[in-house]
Amino acid sequence: MQLQWYPGHMTKAKRQMQEDIKLIDVVIELLDARVPAASRNPDIDELGKNKARLVLMNKADLADERRTREWMEYLKKKGCLTVPLDARNRGGMKQVTAVIMEACREKIERDRKRGIKNRPVRAMVAGIPNVGKSTFINSYAGKACTRTGNKPGVTKGKQWIRLNKNVELLDTPGILWPKFEDPDVGLHLAMIGSIREEILNLDELSTALIRFLCDQYPGVLTERYAVSAEDGEPAALLGQIAQRRGCILKGNEPDYGKASSLLLDDFRSGRLGRITLEQPAGGDD
Ligand code: G4P
Repeated sequence: MQLQWYPGHMTKAKRQMQEDIKLIDVVIELLDARVPAASRNPDIDELGKNKARLVLMNKADLADERRTREWMEYLKKKGCLTVPLDARNRGGMKQVTAVIMEACREKIERDRKRGIKNRPVRAMVAGIPNVGKSTFINSYAGKACTRTGNKPGVTKGKQWIRLNKNVELLDTPGILWPKFEDPDVGLHLAMIGSIREEILNLDELSTALIRFLCDQYPGVLTERYAVSAEDGEPAALLGQIAQRRGCILKGNEPDYGKASSLLLDDFRSGRLGRITLEQPAGGDD
């Protein structure tokens, strides 16, 4: 899914989040592990204040494991509980429940002191478009869950998914919007394919990716496309990729557009390997 954001969308999404968040105990925030900064909207800190919080580093299967560890360390220092995840894989979901319970420890303890026992914690999933919210809800809910209808008083118009005796999940995720003020946000989200490419033209996007790969993941382009040297101009390297992959126009000119699409597609689907575009502030290189 590719979305374009307009102020109207954002206002509506924010209002909906503000309403829904009143009903829940814990916010499960999904980030894309390849772009943890660009896929995060810091407004969630304000929206989710006074709630238990945890962060799922989703699409970790596509991200560089070393970078994911660095990001988790960084977020931990900021007081966030984190779990790396492939939301398509149901096997990882047990761990999520354990971390939700950990995030809600204080609340459960408070309930216990008031004599309230075994009240499930209520959770909602939040994140920008395409981070994997629906995939996560489907995997987490699995087949065994029961969807509970409207509970009078509390959940008017809302569907809750009873995951197990401990957790209930709001079945509509909270939609956050990307923070485009930093130009890298648009660039990185376009690279992973989460926003429309028209924000940048395709060749600009692919040459920016080539520049990044040569700098941070040397050898990747040579291995995949047998380009001759990675220290050349990105446009020349794109030309070489076009030659190697037969992206040729009439008159034997390289078809840069086709080569750009091919490169971006290879990157997005993980065929270039596990790559993360961002590192936490204070990273080593
Ligand atoms: P959203 O609700 O947050 O908008 O995201 P959604 O679940 O629709 O997921 C967006 C895309 O990301 C989907 O692919 C989904 O399969 C994929 N995805 C979600 N989580 C993961 C993950 O952990 N790892 C990987 N590799 N992919 C993930 P799609 O191409 O839009 O659809 P499809 O190919 O699954 O049909």
